[in-house]
Amino acid sequence: MNDLRAVYEILSDVYRQGAYASLALSRRIDSVRNRDFVTRFVYGVLGRDTELNYYIGAMASRKPRGGAAVLLKMGMYCVLYMDSVPDYAAVNNTVELAKEVGKSSSCSFINGVLKAFCKRRPPLPKDASARLSVTASTPLWIVREYVKQYGFDKASEFLSVVPEQREHMRVDTSRISVAKMCEKLDELGVEYTLDPDLGDALFVRNSTKLKALFDGGYFTYQSRCSMMCCRAAQISDGDRVLDMCAAPGGKAVYMSSLADGVSVTACDVYHHRLQLIESYARRMRRSVDVRLMDATVANKEFVGAFDVVMCDVPCSNLGVAAKKPDVYLFKDAAAVASLAEVQYKILSNGARYVKEGGKVVYSTCTLLKEENGDIIKHFLKEHRDFVCESETQYLPDAVGTDGFFVSVLKRGGL
Ligand SMILES: C[S@@+](CC[C@H](N)C(=O)[O-])C[C@H]1O[C@@H](n2cnc3c(N)ncnc32)[C@H](O)[C@@H]1O
Repeated sequence: MNDLRAVYEILSDVYRQGAYASLALSRRIDSVRNRDFVTRFVYGVLGRDTELNYYIGAMASRKPRGGAAVLLKMGMYCVLYMDSVPDYAAVNNTVELAKEVGKSSSCSFINGVLKAFCKRRPPLPKDASARLSVTASTPLWIVREYVKQYGFDKASEFLSVVPEQREHMRVDTSRISVAKMCEKLDELGVEYTLDPDLGDALFVRNSTKLKALFDGGYFTYQSRCSMMCCRAAQISDGDRVLDMCAAPGGKAVYMSSLADGVSVTACDVYHHRLQLIESYARRMRRSVDVRLMDATVANKEFVGAFDVVMCDVPCSNLGVAAKKPDVYLFKDAAAVASLAEVQYKILSNGARYVKEGGKVVYSTCTLLKEENGDIIKHFLKEHRDFVCESETQYLPDAVGTDGFFVSVLKRGGL
């Protein structure tokens, strides 16, 4: 399969079948010639989806559907962002691709829209939020929520952050010091910078040269916010910790290493995802007790049994959109409202499982108050025996922080 066709097939899996981009990509990546090109193209189109929809809406006489919509997005993305491809080639390649994938009937439509787009770009919307939605390629309903919650300037600032293409690495300092890890990275010729706040973390360019250190469990890829969230729990020696929504296991495994004699019970509702926790823990040479559990359903066995309960709940993931642009697809305010119900149930159950004097940590990787501060407010009203020790909304920044929310709730007052 040629690489352009692979991009089309992967994007079709995402747009038309609702597949996750990372999974759709990994299913087909072995059959392509230039992995880097295909990956960039796929993530590039997804990252500019709102902008491409705006231009298609402004240029096309009718709303394209199915394969024709995917092809138009690819062609427009190429015209806008691939400087090395002349406009005429972007148009011709897209039309040829349309024939190849059985969309010959859409060729003249695609050809007409793309040719017109090469000659004239439609003006940006006059309304400031609508314009930001296009320039930051973020759905308008989300921009409006952000502007309401954070103000236009702040929203515009964090929506304009372009993350560097580097990974955040947590070093397992029980096995290798950060200084020694830096020596190894120097020897391997892997670029790195120290995390400005976290002593056991670095930023690196993901590289195949790191495979042996990764497989050996000397480090893992873990975001800054995920690490900060675990630290916020202030785990002490001998603590019993429950992770209600644990897969793939990043926080469960890190929490198990934050003090001596910590025991972690790591649960998830999906059986296949429990295996991810098991293999993560095995690679990092940590032991966690893995259990299948629906965190929205009360479990008598756990009542009052834990010093720390982590509720890293399923959420809209909007805070990681810069890295995973497909999080914007297929979401609306109703989906957020139904997530908030699940989140509240999980937090309420988590509260039953913590001992007197213990802590519940509630976290999400989103920026919407409906999934964050509003849940905590509601919880505190309904649970008079808890106080909020801290509540932090992290915003995406140039250092490499994602949009993330962490609140620490203590049972039995301060
Ligand atoms: C944000 S992820 C957790 C990430 C994990 N804490 C980590 O650091 O690696 C949310 C997890 O919640 C799980 N989940 C969704 N609904 C659940 C439920 N009702 N009960 C338990 N887990 C659930 C998902 O399978 C997913 O693995």
